[in-house]
Amino acid sequence: MAENQKNIRNFCIIAHIDHGKSTLADRFLELTATIEKRKMREQFLDQMDLERERGITIKMQPVRMNYQVSAVNYQMNLIDTPGHVDFSYEVSRSLKAVEGAVLLVDATQGVQAQTVTNLEMAKALGLVIIPVINKIDSINARVSETRKEIIEVLHCDEKEILEISAKTGEGVSALLEEIIKRIPSPPASEESFRALVFDFDYSLHRGVILYIRATDGEIKKGDSVFLRQAGVNFQVAETGIFMPEKKPVERLKNGEIGYVVTNIKEANIGRVGDTLLSKFGSLPALEGYKQPFPVVWASVFPESQDSFESLKQALSRLKLSDSAFAFSEEESGLLGRGFRCGFLGLLHLEIVVERLRRDFGQQLVTASPSVVYRVETKKGGTVEIYSPALFPEHHEIIKIFEPWAAISIITPNEFLNEVMQILNRRDAVIGYTEDFGSSRLLVKAEMPLREMMDNFFEEMKSATSGYASFGYEVVSEKEADVVRMDVLLNDEIIPAFSRIVKRSRVQSEAQKIAKKLKEVLPRQLFVIKIQARALGRILAAESITALKKNVTAHLYGGDRTRKMKLWQKQKKGKKRLKEFGKVSVPHEVFLKMIKNEN
Ligand code: GTP
Repeated sequence: MAENQKNIRNFCIIAHIDHGKSTLADRFLELTATIEKRKMREQFLDQMDLERERGITIKMQPVRMNYQVSAVNYQMNLIDTPGHVDFSYEVSRSLKAVEGAVLLVDATQGVQAQTVTNLEMAKALGLVIIPVINKIDSINARVSETRKEIIEVLHCDEKEILEISAKTGEGVSALLEEIIKRIPSPPASEESFRALVFDFDYSLHRGVILYIRATDGEIKKGDSVFLRQAGVNFQVAETGIFMPEKKPVERLKNGEIGYVVTNIKEANIGRVGDTLLSKFGSLPALEGYKQPFPVVWASVFPESQDSFESLKQALSRLKLSDSAFAFSEEESGLLGRGFRCGFLGLLHLEIVVERLRRDFGQQLVTASPSVVYRVETKKGGTVEIYSPALFPEHHEIIKIFEPWAAISIITPNEFLNEVMQILNRRDAVIGYTEDFGSSRLLVKAEMPLREMMDNFFEEMKSATSGYASFGYEVVSEKEADVVRMDVLLNDEIIPAFSRIVKRSRVQSEAQKIAKKLKEVLPRQLFVIKIQARALGRILAAESITALKKNVTAHLYGGDRTRKMKLWQKQKKGKKRLKEFGKVSVPHEVFLKMIKNEN
């Protein structure tokens, strides 16, 4: 155990997706003997099943390790962070809880767009940055080129760059020693207790659990504390650390990272960036976090209205561990009461919906995602529209405004043509293109966020064989020429399938959606008529033939009259179904439709 705050090092690893953060964290856990060898498994810190299945980190995960160098014990607090752009809010929060960051760059890929974005965030907070080249064991490693690229973005000395293989462990103990040397210990403080709340968890028995970075004083069980923004007083039920599972400790001191059990059962007290203070101290609140800005919205409804309250509870609990996610109640005619939910991107949406189903047992109907439109209507005034189903009819509209994003793309030179073609098709305005390292280019452009939500990244990836990488940020608002398109099944509008599309593409989109629904919708006992409608007329139509049920299967022999009777009865039943049959749309179909798979 570290004797004092001078021997504490708080750090995180930042990198582009798949550059090896979780693998490096595994090596750290082994080297510091934090996890027993027999318990070790790959990507140990990715604790969610969903993370392990997909091989991506979704949630930040703190862990405390102890490491000895020259007979001195150091307490090393690592926060493992996700690499995908949709989860960058997790990264920004982790960065505020630490003094330094390991900037990990895959030698087979070089510096990528998300490396640059994360690096900018770390620099802005004044963190000490240790540049590290990973995967040097790979035959595809381009170590010297990656070095040049790191120097270009970090403006560091070549000697500062370390080389490792997170896979074989080469260079990893040297890296731990450099972390101790280069990253400063947390500043000393003689004040009363104060801590930054950087994350939450919820336990049915122990209520809200705060993840904190103590900046001043110390805290222990029974202390009276105050959550500043939430305005809540409580007595500490337990203090502990992450090993990485929660382990109680007697106290948490200035500079340390750990958790505090509140015993408070109201999940809505959780606000990341809140300050936890001693009730008897006089320190001001810490600066906290910038509120994340959801860019994609989708309405979510319980499959049965009876589950509305349980879905509401599930959403508040999920929000505790995912503060970038936003939700509020809404009412929609056909689907009943539900929630308007905001996400940082499409992957974020997909993960949240999946977690609600798996972790909270919720059966949901998810509407097509949309960006936020600001619509000036003839009735007067402007309305903000989050859900395509609520988009006004085209004859009621004067002007529509939509968000635009600035995008950075790093691509190998040979794919520039393909990249430009896609950008042009997507209405992008190209800013500039410049050399990046020896064989790649950085392209800066602005484009409607709506276009990005519609398979843009998948299209770019396949056009560049997966070599291009992206970072983006919403920067402005511009006028949009879009219309609402509805989907009707047997003459009934299914609001969850309504979407906003560019006017010039409405015909082809209508055909695409009708065709796709025909493919994914299961046959039913009656004919299903699929229609796509926009601008007051039907633009595309398809139909699905009725399923034939073998009503005579249980009959043996050739008694034809009995069979005829049953067939007649079935025919009548089908007629009734045709008139009154409501098309039932299974959940998987909603998901397939929002994923926009081609
Ligand atoms: P996200 O958290 O999803 O952003 O990914 P990550 O950065 O944690 O990457 P992860 O550790 O999951 O590694 C991605 C892939 O690279 C895995 O298949 C690893 O086995 C592989 N990998 C990681 N480090 C090395 C290395 O040093 N050498 C080689 N050859 N492969 C590595």
